[in-house]
Amino acid sequence: MDKILDTFKIEDTHYASFANKTKISIEKGEGVYAYDEEGKKYIDFTAGWGVTSIGHANPVIIDALLEQGQKIIQNPNSGATYSPARSKLISLMHEILPENLTRIFFANSGAEANDAAIKLARKATGKLNIISTVNSFHGRTISTVSATGQNSHRDRFNPLIPNHIFIQYNDIHAARKVIENDVAAVIVEPIQGEGGVNVPDSDYLKKLSDLCTKNNVLLIADEIQTGFYRTGSLFASNNVKVDILTMAKGIGGGFPFGAFAITEEVHDKLNTGDHGGTYCGNPLGCAVAYSVINYMLDNKIWENVESVSRFAFERLNKLKKEHPDIIKEVRGKGLLIAIELADDDVTSALNSKCLDSGLILNVTHGNIVRIFPALNISKEEMEEGLKIFENALENYKQFN
Ligand SMILES: Cc1ncc(COP(=O)(O)O)c(C=O)c1O
Repeated sequence: MDKILDTFKIEDTHYASFANKTKISIEKGEGVYAYDEEGKKYIDFTAGWGVTSIGHANPVIIDALLEQGQKIIQNPNSGATYSPARSKLISLMHEILPENLTRIFFANSGAEANDAAIKLARKATGKLNIISTVNSFHGRTISTVSATGQNSHRDRFNPLIPNHIFIQYNDIHAARKVIENDVAAVIVEPIQGEGGVNVPDSDYLKKLSDLCTKNNVLLIADEIQTGFYRTGSLFASNNVKVDILTMAKGIGGGFPFGAFAITEEVHDKLNTGDHGGTYCGNPLGCAVAYSVINYMLDNKIWENVESVSRFAFERLNKLKKEHPDIIKEVRGKGLLIAIELADDDVTSALNSKCLDSGLILNVTHGNIVRIFPALNISKEEMEEGLKIFENALENYKQFN
């Protein structure tokens, strides 16, 4: 216990307190499980916020880290020299990415990939305005906060970067009304993640894409949360023409890594020096991302996502029917699932009960439980976690 108390004390005293912390100190992980400093075992239904896509401590990632780490971690002159680890990853991504997205570049996080997308869209089009959607989340840098459609993330940083226009999500008429206003790009999440797992109509993205094409506006698909099989397919913008696609989270399996892919037309409008970054495309990150994607392909991870997702939705919808007073809605796609609960109090009570019983959940917007575990979670592991949630719910009802 003393060891844990030290960890709490040091972080509480000297770590900048930007987060409402839960008093657990995680020391290690394996697959979908995480262990605290005293050895208590938890099921991780958050995958480190949608990141540890192939589980904690997956041997393919450890091998890639070791093998590449023994060769080289950062190139001399960084991105201004070539790297076999980088080119291997680019080749693999080129094989699976939508055909029109011919040029790839790397970043270290989602916000950084989106920041580049916005900056380069302005440069490539010579236009200023960026349209994004209400309730969206695109990151925490000043430009991505400016593109984020939630006042809670924006207001305290005013004045933000100008020329951002917000429209209702899943409303094509709203997009039509503003698309002609000197717009460089529309940035959109195919499913809003942090905003509460909001799934648009199945034809929304296609209509948005057509509208953008007609008006010479670039479409940026922010697939940072939805990409790399999180919702079942490689990207949730599947079969829709996008001009810039941003990636992070799942691509690195836990290693801080991001990417964006652009069309040849966008690339043609950009010049040497328009973008870069010390760690962009570093060989270590590239080797890890390669191992993650390769694992997903080798294991046909989408098959597991589909079957575990079906199981989870059946189970949760049944629970909703049994407890309509507590569960307002179950929604999502693949292994990006939201359970909207009656209010913040019940959510907080269930969350702490689950934590005591060894299940780590993510809560967004006070009353939405977001489930986004590792994509290779088994049905039994999903069942184990859902059982803890069900017990917490029944226990809550018994005493409230
Ligand atoms: C859709 C989306 N875009 C961007 C980001 C920001 O990514 P990062 O936290 O890696 O900067 C997130 C993070 O949650 C996200 O969900």
